[in-house]
Amino acid sequence: KQQEVGVIGMGIMGQNLALNIENKGYRVSIYNRSPDKTNIIIKNNPTKNLIPYFSIEQFIFSLKKPRVIFLMITAGVHVDHIIQVLSNYLEIGDILIDGGNSFYQDTVRRDLYLSEKKINFIGLGISGGEEGALKGPSLMPGGSQDAFKIVESLLKKIAARFNDNEICMEYIGPNGSGHYVKMMHNGMEYGDMQIISEIYFFLKMVLHLTAKQLGKIFSDWNMGELSSYLIEITSHILMKSDNNQYCVLDYILDVADNKGTGLWSSKDALDLGVPSTMITESVFARYLSTLKNQRIQASKVFSNVFEGKVNFDLENIDIFVEKARKALYLSKIILYAQGFYQLKISSMTYHWNLNYQKIAKIFRAGCIIRSNFLQEIINIYSKTPKIENLLLDSYCVNIINNYQQDLRDIVTIGIDHGIPMPALSAAISYYDGFRSLMLPANLIQAQRDCFGSHTYKRIDKSGVFHTRWLSK
Ligand code: 6PG
Repeated sequence: KQQEVGVIGMGIMGQNLALNIENKGYRVSIYNRSPDKTNIIIKNNPTKNLIPYFSIEQFIFSLKKPRVIFLMITAGVHVDHIIQVLSNYLEIGDILIDGGNSFYQDTVRRDLYLSEKKINFIGLGISGGEEGALKGPSLMPGGSQDAFKIVESLLKKIAARFNDNEICMEYIGPNGSGHYVKMMHNGMEYGDMQIISEIYFFLKMVLHLTAKQLGKIFSDWNMGELSSYLIEITSHILMKSDNNQYCVLDYILDVADNKGTGLWSSKDALDLGVPSTMITESVFARYLSTLKNQRIQASKVFSNVFEGKVNFDLENIDIFVEKARKALYLSKIILYAQGFYQLKISSMTYHWNLNYQKIAKIFRAGCIIRSNFLQEIINIYSKTPKIENLLLDSYCVNIINNYQQDLRDIVTIGIDHGIPMPALSAAISYYDGFRSLMLPANLIQAQRDCFGSHTYKRIDKSGVFHTRWLSK
């Protein structure tokens, strides 16, 4: 008897996804490059309909046609390699689904290559980590709509559900669009993580709160407008102690890793000419953290005694905790406004016809950035589907007008105390730039024209102008 689905790659995500598919009633062929992993999975799941294969050829021939194969391997050259191998065996109409965090341009290229062979290719963004893969991730499929139709019911079954009935899986668009949306999900994930970390550091270093107090604050925040998976896990992380003795967090090396999706989001923002400053700063903040040796040397030569000249009364901690909450929420709004604006420009540039409301909907469960705020985004797009920038909606305008002083205060106090706040200060700077009728870009234009005759436009008459700035 042939299997209905195949999964290649038995890493954490691959094995959990295979189990998820099996739990929905499918028989699943599994394959991993090294047989050890496959053997362990079979040993640990003796009652499951997971059928192991140790050669690609046998794996392929074990599948019913049209074959449906999930590729769950690390993004990069290995994906090209396995596609090369698989394309020797796959037949017209078979469907290959890349569920890794592949770079969207690679997906566009692979889609083209496989479509010439009439093999269907779906670039599937999957979010939700290990637990999501097993119990229901948020799914972002991109590729040909015909191929999508064939696997739609399977994807629906394995996806997360919001409020038990709304499925967190929607067709995103052609070729690389699914992986692009996943990439931007991760970009916003980086931004969320960075602003939470900056606020945590502020509360710890300026207000001198203990990890237990902080844990309680984050868990309180999780009951309100900030409610989200990342705030929730942060409260647990802060409360975690080893044998009830010391806070585990305090013993973690402060060097942040990354696997590239934040970098790609930032690079693409630069390519598209969109100011996604918060994602970019979040990536740079991780990079700065990796300069640990230089930081150690610098910490010895630069004074770290900050007087805190900004006048504020620490007597009433609650007021500052509330200020921090508002600063965090407002910067989250600015982060998502930037992220969704980048999605809009990418959609126009790459002709994807993205539906932003649907994208916000599939982020509501299963994925890492699930949060209550997404509901506000959904409301905005249902009112104004073509809105240029989320910040211009009345919900955001209202929050901004009420919270901007708090964000400003937290950044001012933080900087005054020597606390690095790259993403929070990017948030307030973006806001100040965004709301300004006049920016000093006139001077930049004049300088460009002065040294390179790049010309400029005027506000009082149309046309293109050049001035001989240095001639008497
Ligand atoms: C998800 C996560 C997942 C993974 C990131 C982490 O949505 O499930 O985003 O994809 O955690 O790849 O990326 P970094 O290692 O770059 O932080």
